[in-house]
Amino acid sequence: MQKKKLKIGMLGFGSMGKTHTYAIKNLPFFYPSLPFDAELFGVCTKTPEKAEYAKNTFGYGKATTNEDELIFCDDVDIIDISTPNIYHFETLMKAIEAGKHIYCEKPLCISLDEAQKIENAAKKKGNIFGMVFNNRFIPAIMRAKQLIDEGRIGRILSFSAVYYHSSATDINKNAGWKQNKDICGGGVLFDLGSHVIDLVHFLCGDIESVSAKSQIAYPTRCGMNGEAWQTNADEAFYMLCTLASGGVGTITASKVHTGANDDVVLEIYGEKGALKYSLMDCEWLHFYDNEAKPSPLGGEKGFTKIECVGRYDAPGGVFPSPKAPVGWLMGHVTNYMEFLSSVYEGRQPCPSLSDGVYVQRVMEAGYKSDTLRRWIKVSDLSVI
Ligand SMILES: NC(=O)c1ccc[n+]([C@@H]2O[C@H](COP(=O)([O-])OP(=O)(O)OC[C@H]3O[C@@H](n4cnc5c(N)ncnc54)[C@H](O)[C@@H]3O)[C@@H](O)[C@H]2O)c1
Repeated sequence: MQKKKLKIGMLGFGSMGKTHTYAIKNLPFFYPSLPFDAELFGVCTKTPEKAEYAKNTFGYGKATTNEDELIFCDDVDIIDISTPNIYHFETLMKAIEAGKHIYCEKPLCISLDEAQKIENAAKKKGNIFGMVFNNRFIPAIMRAKQLIDEGRIGRILSFSAVYYHSSATDINKNAGWKQNKDICGGGVLFDLGSHVIDLVHFLCGDIESVSAKSQIAYPTRCGMNGEAWQTNADEAFYMLCTLASGGVGTITASKVHTGANDDVVLEIYGEKGALKYSLMDCEWLHFYDNEAKPSPLGGEKGFTKIECVGRYDAPGGVFPSPKAPVGWLMGHVTNYMEFLSSVYEGRQPCPSLSDGVYVQRVMEAGYKSDTLRRWIKVSDLSVI
């Protein structure tokens, strides 16, 4: 029997366009019995040279610089949004109206107002809408979710969630679009903070309120064209958060943490146990069971290093081997697999649009708190 084809129109072919293309092309290695064929139907970039390069090198059927040629093409099933943040809203509204299924990079858009318009439009049209929150798809994070859902750490008392880069500490490096608010719409909170806010929401539940402080450590640097330029997007963002369940914790996103590489570090402390995770050492989940026997000689008490490595649940985890190290790319491959499976099965994926809207709401609360220097309630953005 012929497999169902899912034809993808890729918008943007920078680092994420390439990452998504890798995921799509390599799915058959990681899932040998795929029930669908994902087809690279077309690619759109800002310059014709880049679009032609993507077409000729990676096998897209069509190259264009006009996204409408993919969005309004009857043959396209899925629109993949891998463009800079400020373009997401307008593109999403067109893709929703055209009835396409959507796979959208974080952040969903650049304001809660835009997010709600997107959500209303998609509800009316019924598009299947997946968000990219690839950090959820590392086995150690999936195992953490499983342990929390099984009640193994009990009521969450506190947490710390950070995403550190050091990329903005090089003052001689020209700013890119992620440092220019006119294109990114928000600074490191949008870029890295969106990931950790999603992880906290995914693992610890709803965030009730936030008190935030942004930081621009280098007010003047080289702009995109090499001339002196005033930094206008946060380079670090610090948030103290309360959880709806009563816990308290901190979320930090920063590009000015000297020595950091791609450091997502999570610590979650509950009544019955604790979890620790680091993306730079993501083969392992550290689990402390408060109910383990304490003696003699320490008994079984202490953090256990769980060997999560590449042990995905079936139908994944077969290639290259369940014991092989996992790596960042597999988060994207598995996120894409969840989305395409949802399209094939006609259900909403996880993470979905509602997760994108939720993260947008927390980020808006964060920026409001930073501006007003007050605590902000996440549910209605009121001052506490
Ligand atoms: N989930 C992750 O791991 C992750 C990592 C990095 C970036 N992102 C997100 O992915 C998105 C893209 O970021 P990136 O790092 O790939 O950016 P990038 O600068 O590497 O690439 C952007 C691409 O978009 C194209 N582009 C720009 N304007 C366009 C337009 N109007 N129409 C069509 N194409 C256009 C450019 O030609 C380029 O190919 C952003 O929303 C970003 O937040 C996610």
